[in-house]
Amino acid sequence: MDGRDLVRRVRLVGSVRGLRTVRAAWRRRSADARALPPRGAERARVPGALVGAEPGPGGGVVRFARSELRIRVAVGGAVFWAWDGADPLPSYALAGEVPAADPRAVLEPDKDGGWQVVSERLTVVVSRTGAVELRTPGGVLLRRELPPRWWEPVGGGAVRWVQRSEVPADARFFGLGGRASGPRLRDGAYGLWNTDPGGRFGPGDDPLYLTMPVQVVVSDAGTHLAFHDNTWAGRVVVREGEEGAGSGHDRPGTCEVRMEGGPLRCWVVAGTPARVLRGWTALTGAPAVPPSWALGPQHARWGFGSEREVRRVVAGYRERGLPLSVLHLDIDHYDGHRVFTVDRGRFPSLPGLAKELREEGVRLVSIVDPAVKAAPGDAVFDAGVALGERGAYVRDARGRVVVGEVWPGACVYPDFTDPVVREWWGSLYGERLAQGFSGIWHDMNEPVSFAAFGDPSLPRSARHVLEGAGGDHREAHNVYGLAMARAGYEGLLRLRPEERPFLFSRSGWAGMQRYGGTWSGDVSTGWPGLRASLSLVLGLGLCGVPYSGPDVGGFDGFPSPELYLRWFQMGAYLPLFRTHSAIDAGRREPWEFGPEVLEHARSALVERERLHPYFVTLSHVARLSGAPYVRPVWWAAPGDRALRGCEDAFLLGDALLVAPVMKAGAERRVVRLPRGRWYDTVTGRAYEGPGPVVVDAPLSRIPVLARAGAVIPVRDADGELELEVWAPAPGRTGGGLVVRDPGDGWAEAEVERYVSRWEGERVVVERDGGEGAGAVGLPVRVRGVEG
Ligand code: NOJ
Repeated sequence: MDGRDLVRRVRLVGSVRGLRTVRAAWRRRSADARALPPRGAERARVPGALVGAEPGPGGGVVRFARSELRIRVAVGGAVFWAWDGADPLPSYALAGEVPAADPRAVLEPDKDGGWQVVSERLTVVVSRTGAVELRTPGGVLLRRELPPRWWEPVGGGAVRWVQRSEVPADARFFGLGGRASGPRLRDGAYGLWNTDPGGRFGPGDDPLYLTMPVQVVVSDAGTHLAFHDNTWAGRVVVREGEEGAGSGHDRPGTCEVRMEGGPLRCWVVAGTPARVLRGWTALTGAPAVPPSWALGPQHARWGFGSEREVRRVVAGYRERGLPLSVLHLDIDHYDGHRVFTVDRGRFPSLPGLAKELREEGVRLVSIVDPAVKAAPGDAVFDAGVALGERGAYVRDARGRVVVGEVWPGACVYPDFTDPVVREWWGSLYGERLAQGFSGIWHDMNEPVSFAAFGDPSLPRSARHVLEGAGGDHREAHNVYGLAMARAGYEGLLRLRPEERPFLFSRSGWAGMQRYGGTWSGDVSTGWPGLRASLSLVLGLGLCGVPYSGPDVGGFDGFPSPELYLRWFQMGAYLPLFRTHSAIDAGRREPWEFGPEVLEHARSALVERERLHPYFVTLSHVARLSGAPYVRPVWWAAPGDRALRGCEDAFLLGDALLVAPVMKAGAERRVVRLPRGRWYDTVTGRAYEGPGPVVVDAPLSRIPVLARAGAVIPVRDADGELELEVWAPAPGRTGGGLVVRDPGDGWAEAEVERYVSRWEGERVVVERDGGEGAGAVGLPVRVRGVEG
């Protein structure tokens, strides 16, 4: 615990729930002391010498003196390798079946006495000591896994392991879920243990709510994603390499994955960034497409406190002509902070309020916390106790229900790793739908138990069903939020099958995108927080979770008008665009910061609404291809090394480059452009990439550049769909995709492809392929020809 953490904990102890958080922490500590004795003597093990090999589907097994390595190349090119006989299943990350083995991938001896599997996208080379190399078809090294090492407790118990890898000297690391200090993961240790930082966080805080052992590595040799499919607590230590300036003495980058238990198994997907994300979502599932209203502006606050205040805030938007699509109700609308209840004193008619707001185009979203107040007589608590043979709640090693401390006081925790519990919990969302809510916001699901000291979660020794396999919290902790998301998503699907569920969740793990999105959590108010919030969105997108966004303005405290505005302007280009703040923080409505901020915030809102069709398109593109809406600037140019370290700008789809202002007082900024021509979307001025350019960033807007040739679906002044086309560079062509909103149900969305080109002095746009090819059938506005 660092000094800041200590101060935070003392604040918690001193003010909010005092002694109870001390007691909860003691309870957790003594449960673990009883059930998880300190590790005694351990035996270290390495694979030892190669002793033989056996071909099998897609690869085979290479045997060593003290372990064996399985390799399996799947159709589509993903490579699975695992030690000690681990299988791809069971897995919380994978969606459904393991992809079939590629029959063309065959295990064969290599020239150095090892073995290799040559496949279309990757060659896997296994050395005589158990190092595993992944090479491109051209033979260039992407990643070298050194022989792993295990530590086995002599008296039995979880086997720890470490796996060290090397990557090319120029490689850069990204991913590992949501990280505040990235998106480029610089030298350091990154925890794999979903953690509530306790009220606010900045770039220095790690780990946070949503971690996952997914690394995306970008180098000249290519891009790859490595996923260690293991839910246990762990740590990844990253060290970037160094090039010896042509001396031939490059120091490779290294990465060390250390796990406290669980299987040593890994999936690797390689190719261009787009191919890598396509392969990753083929394995772990397509991102859920949010209903289109969830791509509009959203507003939340912990502490609206009453129907009256909700009406006042919504009226504030209406009266000022500011668009608002969603309003979120936090735990203060609950009765005594108890989930699935409503305080009828302050919210006498929630269904009525919901209906009224809906009529003016505003949906309500409800927070749902997992912890249930331990109160006999409470309907939810009692139903959980009575569920099935063992009840719904997590128990300790002695079989007693674990009691933690959350907002309602003493609480118990549904075990979402139990299918019976998931089904029960999902059915409870019927109450939320009956209250008139359209979507669900999962919170506190790392899961949190307030603690005066130590880990603010459940005892590591707590027992979980883990789909019938049984195990303890060390294995279940990181997938608690993921399994809760599954329960919620499937529940909503059963209750309201005709509509796509809208759900986003603070915690999660690999595969989270199947059920919904996430958000930044309690990002601290300040310029570093603004920066951290972009880092999270970019990192999560690269891990396959494309729908997220920050608490615009920061969760705590009082942003300056300038900080609020700059955050708002950035948020307008992120998938989840939501203002939110803590109960004791300042206001976040756009009119609370003076007339100038209001006018500029209005422009940002109007632009977001104008781009709504583009966001809808991006949400479907994400489902079909895994490509996140928000992408690092190197996405289409991973070979441009200078772009790999660029953390203050992002691509929104293929067409736009957004360069938020991240510093106080800045009215111009440097933007590092990828190759090609880019237009400032406000002035129309053209810039040529690659390389840095200085662009205007007056308080009224952040720089947004459009790629030459881009075709972007937008709303015209009457709200009708039109195509905004940016002139291709001379002699070049361009294009873009359009997916029209198929509604909130399950209608298949059609992807329309458009191309742009010069014809003499004119820019023309045509529909490419499919029905109606050639004819555009939509109004077109050409830009970039003003000069
Ligand atoms: C923590 C969440 O991160 C925050 O967004 C929410 O307002 C509070 N819990 C209260 O529910």
